[in-house]
Amino acid sequence: MNEYAVRISEFLQIWKVWWENRMTDYLIETRNLTKVYGSGEIAVAALGGVDVAIEPGEFVAIMGPSGSGKSTLMNILGCLDQPTAGHYILDNQDVSYMSKTELAHVRNHKIGFVFQSFNLLPRVSALKNVMLPMQYGGGRSPVNERKERTMAALEAVGLADRAHHRPTEMSGGQRQRVAIARALVNDPPLILADEPTGNLDTRSSEEIMEILHKLHSRGRTISMVTHEPDIATHTQRVICIRDGQVTAEGDCVSPN
Ligand SMILES: Nc1ncnc2c1ncn2[C@@H]1O[C@H](COP(=O)(O)OP(=O)(O)OP(=O)(O)O)[C@@H](O)[C@H]1O
Ligand SMILES: [Mg+2]
Repeated sequence: MNEYAVRISEFLQIWKVWWENRMTDYLIETRNLTKVYGSGEIAVAALGGVDVAIEPGEFVAIMGPSGSGKSTLMNILGCLDQPTAGHYILDNQDVSYMSKTELAHVRNHKIGFVFQSFNLLPRVSALKNVMLPMQYGGGRSPVNERKERTMAALEAVGLADRAHHRPTEMSGGQRQRVAIARALVNDPPLILADEPTGNLDTRSSEEIMEILHKLHSRGRTISMVTHEPDIATHTQRVICIRDGQVTAEGDCVSPN
């Protein structure tokens, strides 16, 4: 390579680093996000270069057919999984290839995750379930303060009077409200929910959406996956995903 070519190559390298680390106004930004499960003949390309950007304070729905990559995307956005290629910038920090410990730290401070199947510990009280993230996130605060924050989170979802009940003694809607309280207890700016109403009847779904609305109106950024167009209408913006690609915004044609 002559000197000229070396200079161009150096410049491109510097530009690439700058481009990948530039500051943005987004809370969430993915660049060419790619996820392949497995390798060789059994490799499954679940995300094939997804670019999404979500501003602080937005309420976004992600829709698409079964198997299109919605949960894969949410798990990466929630720092529960990592991409195979591409970048995920959360709050101006590139979290794409952090260690598990670093990811857990980010998760505890910035993200509350709500699952379709609630993922509560069945044999311990709502109070203990909700307190759990504080053992990792705010573990050094005094027990009294942790209890106060837990009760405030349970109150925010209308379940203060059920604090000592176990999930097995609760309805699906109540379990999901406990799960939302757990997602709130470390006061994260971002709530991610993967089909939070998927296992619920219409009335409980409406209650959950009301709670999410309230959280949004108090400044939280929310991104949720849903199959149900009715539920998506509660949000400000719909991102459509199909075969691991973002295909459109707005109306997602015939989501399954
Ligand atoms: N752990 C895994 N190992 C291998 N393949 C996986 C894994 N998880 C997901 N997949 C595959 O990746 C693709 C996307 O799956 P994903 O769960 O993200 O879809 P989804 O849009 O959430 O679907 P659904 O609406 O049914 O929940 C599918 O083809 C799926 O089979
Ligand atoms: Mg899914």
